[in-house]
Amino acid sequence: MVQVTPFLLMLSMVLVAPGHSAKKCVLTGRWMNELGSNMTILAVNGKGEFSGFYHTAVTATMNEIQVSPLQGSQHRTNQKSQPTFGFTVNWSFSDSVTVFTGQCFVDDEGNEVLKTMWLLRSQVDDIKNDWKATRVGTNVFIRLHSQQECKWQKGASGSAGSASHSFCSATCFTQ
Ligand code: BTN
Repeated sequence: MVQVTPFLLMLSMVLVAPGHSAKKCVLTGRWMNELGSNMTILAVNGKGEFSGFYHTAVTATMNEIQVSPLQGSQHRTNQKSQPTFGFTVNWSFSDSVTVFTGQCFVDDEGNEVLKTMWLLRSQVDDIKNDWKATRVGTNVFIRLHSQQECKWQKGASGSAGSASHSFCSATCFTQ
């Protein structure tokens, strides 16, 4: 018993040490990024595959925004607490497709955050326009909890055209 106590103390110190968070980052749930876009990721299956829905706050088109399906996969479901992942959004209201790739992190405050990069491919009628058909950028997603509103402090550009977006922190409050 005398030897067990120091062991438990050491174990707890290792688990809460920076960069060794005990909390696992889980993709399933509702997320919001700094543009104000929302997505819902449904259950991740045993092979790491998942589907869900994406509601973008911005569009590169003049079309009316509609909720669109997403499909993706997570790497090594049971082995990593901060898994890498990728997903594709097949936009329901345009001829475009966006692929996202990223990693699910638990930050120093214990909050889950998805750091992603994306490529948005727009359809063009002529191969001569291929050079301008792909946009690139980054998005950071935070988890939306039930009964909670999150507002990004800055960074919403209003269009999907910019090459990068400034990272910013979000303030959340309970309604
Ligand atoms: C389109 O405009 O053709 C489809 C919508 C694209 C929205 C982009 S995808 C990358 C970026 N992140 C978002 O949440 N929305 C924009």
